[in-house]
Amino acid sequence: MKSKNVFLSALLGIALIILCIILVRVFLLQPSETVKLAAIPDTEYDPAVWGKHYPLEYQSYLKNKEMAPSPTGFGGSIKEQKSIKEPEILVNFKGMAFSKDYTEDRGHPYAMDDLKETKRVTPATVGSCMTCKTANLRDIYKTMGWNYAKKPLAELMPLIKHPIVCANCHDPKTMKLRVSNPAFMDAMQRRGIDVAKASREDMRSYVCGQCHAEYYFKPDDKRVTFPWDKGLKPPDMYAYYKEIPSGFDMDWLHPDSQAKMLKAQHPDFELFSEGVHGKSGVSCADCHMPYMREKGRKYSSHWVTSPMKHVQASCRTCHTQDEKWLLERVRTTQNNVFQLQGIAGQTIARAHDVIGKAGATPEVNQAELSKARELIRNAQWFWDFIAAENSMGFHNPDQTLNTLGQSIDLAHQAIATANRAAGKQY
Ligand code: HEC
Ligand code: HEC
Ligand code: HEC
Ligand code: HEC
Repeated sequence: MKSKNVFLSALLGIALIILCIILVRVFLLQPSETVKLAAIPDTEYDPAVWGKHYPLEYQSYLKNKEMAPSPTGFGGSIKEQKSIKEPEILVNFKGMAFSKDYTEDRGHPYAMDDLKETKRVTPATVGSCMTCKTANLRDIYKTMGWNYAKKPLAELMPLIKHPIVCANCHDPKTMKLRVSNPAFMDAMQRRGIDVAKASREDMRSYVCGQCHAEYYFKPDDKRVTFPWDKGLKPPDMYAYYKEIPSGFDMDWLHPDSQAKMLKAQHPDFELFSEGVHGKSGVSCADCHMPYMREKGRKYSSHWVTSPMKHVQASCRTCHTQDEKWLLERVRTTQNNVFQLQGIAGQTIARAHDVIGKAGATPEVNQAELSKARELIRNAQWFWDFIAAENSMGFHNPDQTLNTLGQSIDLAHQAIATANRAAGKQY
């Protein structure tokens, strides 16, 4: 009797262990650990070829071509001029390409089409512009190094066959995540971070941060450079630019105020990194590439779009509130941000006008006038940092509202200083 009991308990024990293993495999293992690897050559960039081996990821990647608005009313995947909702853009970017053409972003497969179509590209456009638009950058950089950056874009076009595809983020041999933009690796190295040794969790944001970040072109060789040496917050980067790095003193001279201006470029990674999700270890992929389940297989959605199109998968893995509540929270933040962003942008537009008039006033106080120009440069950097970021503040609501508050104050100071310089009220 006794030995039979021992035998039965042992059997039960073994059964329990097997059950545990099955449960762990089904529910806990990350999809990438269960994926069957295929032999894809290192120079294969066609996503359809990769897709034969990884059909679920490829099917969801193809959804990036879908053009639909977002349920928040902001963002969305439709190419639309931003100046329709924010006409102050036309004044604040006067004298430079963003006043001619500045559209809402859409899916990754369109990156090269949109680069070709934009009125911002002219025969003078340099090769550095394709850095974040195509996987073919890998081979181009391998053969030319940074020399590609100052070549005319038109000369590189025949070498570019694909937009943002699998190879931008994956090593085809191991399917592990990889970063291919050398500017990102350089900038991280200067911050003391070796991207090659990054954890899987960090890589789930780094693959995005390599492109969704602020940058400038070094004046001499047009090398793409991220201004991160002093930190990732708007004042840190402003302080970096203030030192005129490698002789870079402005993106353009504003024709009205004659102020030396900076243009901010989509600092999504920077804003997110300092926010509550970034600081809690949540990654870009957690929200923008959530796990899905199909035919009994768990996989990462490769439809990289607004997470609010699939709140259940994107947010409810961590949040217990219902979808309606989460959408309302996002909308509330965005509406508050959009309102202050408008006030900041419009006050800056007025400041360009006032500084312009003050500058044309005979016997204007030149020292005060340059102070006003410095103030508007700073005000616009703060406004543009938020306006160029893609989440309408959601990635970091408190920093966003703080930055816009400072922008509004600086714009009013710029107006007051210009009026003082002119000795009258414009
Ligand atoms: C913008 C970056 C990016 C692009 C482009 C991309 N992936 Fe991924 N992929 C990811 C991320 C992030 C993960 C999650 C990896 C992790 O958590 O370790 C992932 C995971 C995977 C996995 C592991 C299983 C899974 O679903 O999590 C496969 C297979 C895969 N991707 C295939 C592809 C294929 C095929 C393409 C092109 C059609 C592609 N990926 C394009 C970022 C990308
Ligand atoms: C190689 C550069 C590159 C990488 C890597 C990259 N992006 Fe993008 N992303 C872009 C560009 C460029 C666009 C705009 C394309 C356009 O409008 O033509 C874009 C657009 C988007 C959009 C807007 C899509 C829409 O439907 O409106 C989202 C969201 C996005 N990216 C998130 C991510 C996330 C999350 C990652 C990492 C998993 C990532 N991106 C990786 C360059 C990149
Ligand atoms: C906690 C979830 C979360 C994380 C983490 C997150 N995002 Fe977002 N992201 C959002 C939400 C919500 C929006 C607003 C979408 C909307 O308005 O429809 C958004 C918007 C965007 C957009 C604009 C989408 C559009 O429709 O035009 C881009 C691009 C983007 N995020 C990139 C990133 C990148 C890059 C990272 C990491 C550096 C990141 N996000 C991290 C939730 C997240
Ligand atoms: C991987 C886990 C995770 C995911 C996915 C996630 N969150 Fe969060 N979220 C957090 C954590 C952690 C906090 C910090 C506060 C806390 O501990 O509750 C937070 C805080 C918030 C807050 C309050 C702070 C703020 O920034 O306003 C909101 C709102 C929020 N999340 C919305 C969302 C939405 C919307 C999504 C989906 C697009 C989302 N979250 C996805 C983990 C997550």
